[in-house]
Amino acid sequence: MTLEEAKIEASSLAEKINFYNHQYYQNDKSEISDYEFDKLLERLIAIEAEFPETKTDDSPTQRVGGAITKNFETVYHKYPMLSLGNTYSKEDLEEFDKRVAKGLEGQSYEYFCELKFDGVALSLTYENGKLVRGVTRGDGTRGDDITNNVKTIRTIPLKLQGDDIPAEFEVRGEAFLPKEMFAKLNKEREDIGEELYANARNTASGSLKMQDSSIVSKRRLDCYLYSMIGDKIKVKSHEEAILKLLAMGFNVSKTFQKCQNIDEVFAYINEWETKRMDLPLETDGIVIKVNSIEQQQQLGYTAKSPRWAIAYKYKSEAAISVLKDITYQVGRTGAITPVAELKPVLLAGTTVKRASLHNANEIQRLDIRIGDTVYVEKGGEIIPKVTKVDPSKRNSDSRPLEYITNCPECGTALVRVEGEASHYCPNSTGCPPQIKGKIEHFIQRRAMNIDSLGERTIDILYQKGLVKSPADLYDLTFENIIDLEGFKELSTNNLLKGVKDSIQTPFESVLFGLGIRFVGRTVAEKLAYHFKNIDKLASADYEELIAVPEIGERIASSLLEYFSSEENQNELSRLKQAGVNFEVVEKEVTLLSLALEGKTFVVSGVFEQFGRDEIKEVIKNHGGKVISAISGKLDFLLAGDKMGPAKKEKAEKLGVTIISEQEFLKMIEG
Ligand code: IVH
Repeated sequence: MTLEEAKIEASSLAEKINFYNHQYYQNDKSEISDYEFDKLLERLIAIEAEFPETKTDDSPTQRVGGAITKNFETVYHKYPMLSLGNTYSKEDLEEFDKRVAKGLEGQSYEYFCELKFDGVALSLTYENGKLVRGVTRGDGTRGDDITNNVKTIRTIPLKLQGDDIPAEFEVRGEAFLPKEMFAKLNKEREDIGEELYANARNTASGSLKMQDSSIVSKRRLDCYLYSMIGDKIKVKSHEEAILKLLAMGFNVSKTFQKCQNIDEVFAYINEWETKRMDLPLETDGIVIKVNSIEQQQQLGYTAKSPRWAIAYKYKSEAAISVLKDITYQVGRTGAITPVAELKPVLLAGTTVKRASLHNANEIQRLDIRIGDTVYVEKGGEIIPKVTKVDPSKRNSDSRPLEYITNCPECGTALVRVEGEASHYCPNSTGCPPQIKGKIEHFIQRRAMNIDSLGERTIDILYQKGLVKSPADLYDLTFENIIDLEGFKELSTNNLLKGVKDSIQTPFESVLFGLGIRFVGRTVAEKLAYHFKNIDKLASADYEELIAVPEIGERIASSLLEYFSSEENQNELSRLKQAGVNFEVVEKEVTLLSLALEGKTFVVSGVFEQFGRDEIKEVIKNHGGKVISAISGKLDFLLAGDKMGPAKKEKAEKLGVTIISEQEFLKMIEG
């Protein structure tokens, strides 16, 4: 490849990647699979590595991270990052409005309302339209330069759009971990037996301070921008600034509203009190800003905050209860979670009897004792938590809690690994909740998907001594089950069929189901596709394991430990004997013709001659490509019976050709 060719390909790849990124983040559409997207990115990375001249400042490869920052440099903010005064009542807000009216001496004024995003404040500096620096708030005067990590946030433009861009200016906003990503991250951690993160805000903050930007990139942080500062910025109102930010390509939450008076502000507050729950991020209030910049200047600042703006905080839903007891739960991996058993109390519409206490450190931090009066809150998370204790209501004879030293289920002495907050029960093969937890993990939808089995049945099977490991499931007989509580002939056969059918589960799901520590769903897929079968994976040495992209020391060691255990080897050979699938079955595309080469298809509805998956195969067999979303770039919408009207309408609007099954058949004929 010549440099010229490399430049052409790199620029075309960058354009494609930017397009898909934009579709994904701004328009909520995924037009290609993650795998295809990664391939495009990998190709661009390879070209840039071979021909560094092709690398541009705004190349999408910068989003993948890779740069390591050992120590974040402390930098002074050119303009201090102030905070906002907080109010919690409508009376306080009326007071604020009176102060504004007084300060503006009879002038008319309007407000601009926004939600108060609960994330991490960032200051971004742009020079000549390019992002040059991203800094945390720090103490307001100076913060940490986290530019490499900021660049991994895909909605933060590296290069601005339009031609009316100030030569140098700062943009401020709030970086956050979307609720969905937070839940996904915690699900992955749960899968591999890692301690869960407490909330999205702290996780976002911790992520932005990570040394390895490639890990930050995977967290999929996002950022909403809400202000623009610079000596040369000529806007008359905050509204104008917000519209300018939007025009330059910044991600601005569309939840803002201009209000003519404080009553309209109250209406905005009421409107968003519940609607904010549906947003992709946590919000904890609203911010009310005087709209005119000139009036903002007239009102000025106190030492800490502007007089032209204020935050109204929504009351977090808290309830007062009494701690009756602390119980300890044992998870699949043996991790111990202390749980507060409370006097039942009504909180945000539900009765709360239990709340998570996370670990021994949290108990120590709260200094919580039996009989204490406690505050319980529902944050963004579903499980309520104890936020504080009222020591004034404590009995004089109460004593600090002593954390358990032995497993509440099997009595084994607990261990606490250096650097980890949780205690663990090491008796993985003899501790009942660990055994049942492993089987529950094995049968779950994302693993073996045996939906004829559930927690309750597993409990019964375990109690009766019928199953002690996943492999035992495949030895179950009709006679074993028919006499169990709640089982009849139909349900017994159903259970057995579910187990039997599961042997065809794809290898990556089986591997995930084995519950190897640190092998979550994504890692299982990577390993399965790389090694193709369990024997190759089991015989791989440390070097071979860490050579697999994304497999680090921790996962490699865990795999080596798993496969070296005689007990696990025995379990695997029993599963194999039962016929469980331990290899990747590659579906080869049998190219029958090139009739559809380069053409993209969206398939929708029901077809006469083919099943939906079947018709997709046919498209591929003739060189075509199947995608999921309709866009202006799509070639054909293959419409079957009962296709939704919205799809049809959209395709028509975008000028996409809609074809019937008959027309499709004509295309591939001959
Ligand atoms: S404007 C003078 N607008 O709240 C400060 N701040 O206590 C002007 N925040 O550090 C800030 N959402 O991190 C503004 N829509 C919004 C906001 C917002 C969240 C945060 C920001 C700031 C803190 C102020």
